Amino acid sequence: MKTIGVLTSGGDAPGMNAAIRAVVRTSVFYSKRAVGIYRGYDGLIGGETNELNAKSVKNILEMGGTILQSARSDAFRTPEGREKAALTMKSQGIDGLVVIGGNGTFTGAHLLHEEHAIPVVGIPGTIDNDLFGTDMTIGYDTACNTVMECIDKIRDTANSHNRLFFVEVMGRDAGFIALHTGLATGALEVILPERNTTLEDVFASIERGQSNQKTSNIIVVAEGNKIGSTFSIADAVKQRFPEADTKVTILGHLQRGGSPSCADRINASQLGVAAVEALLNGKTDVMMGMVTGKITQTFFQQAIFNKAPLDMELVRMARILSI
Ligand code: F6P
Repeated sequence: MKTIGVLTSGGDAPGMNAAIRAVVRTSVFYSKRAVGIYRGYDGLIGGETNELNAKSVKNILEMGGTILQSARSDAFRTPEGREKAALTMKSQGIDGLVVIGGNGTFTGAHLLHEEHAIPVVGIPGTIDNDLFGTDMTIGYDTACNTVMECIDKIRDTANSHNRLFFVEVMGRDAGFIALHTGLATGALEVILPERNTTLEDVFASIERGQSNQKTSNIIVVAEGNKIGSTFSIADAVKQRFPEADTKVTILGHLQRGGSPSCADRINASQLGVAAVEALLNGKTDVMMGMVTGKITQTFFQQAIFNKAPLDMELVRMARILSI
């Protein structure tokens, strides 16, 4: 293998740049050519590439977003799109690929490997932390810290006005951000995609808060929860408790930005080195991960189809601590 390509795909996540840097510098360290592919699989299909060297990735370790940009490619979902991508790799002499992203990224990577025998290794990069085969995806720690800071600020104003805030956080399929930040900010309740929380449960938590004379309350709502939109939950609560001063804050895409945390930079750096070394050792069709401090490899299909488990014990503890 002489040339290694790298791309970022799906939702961007803080720490993706640290991973790109690690992939490029490790390739150069082993005397390989490194090629950056822009805008994810769309750029691979269109041949949007640029050779990168150790200097091209200087001063990006601390930057949020991705210098290669990202995309959710519809074209790559088709066999024709993947055929074009394989042709780009052939014509540009790219022998192996490192893809940084989440579920959708690895679904595409698996098909590229299967249909065109292209060596491809993945690095888990998503704020959602919803990939099986790694303790922490790149971007998750930074996103949690961002959300925690925001909720702390909301708590200040909630306290000053005796208000009940519903704070919606990202996570359409997974409640990692909601559960962990709920615990870290002392939320009264967390509403998760993984649990069948009902409006009655939410009402009961509010009643519990009232009987304990809590002056401010935060309810963290994961966007993919099973009850409904955060505004509809807040409306139902207002109808049940007309005296409650309710407010809704949707944190949205600010959760995806910002300089990566120390943990994300280290995770991204380790996985970037490991991904290139895995490719050079003939590995393919696998996602690199870090499990209890050790580098692991998980087949793409396993990483995609197995659900990353949420620690339900934390739900119980959050409840104990929110009295
Ligand atoms: O997968 C990461 C994520 O941020 C999810 O938490 C969220 O539901 C989704 O991406 C939003 O995607 P987009 O930026 O394409 O709207």
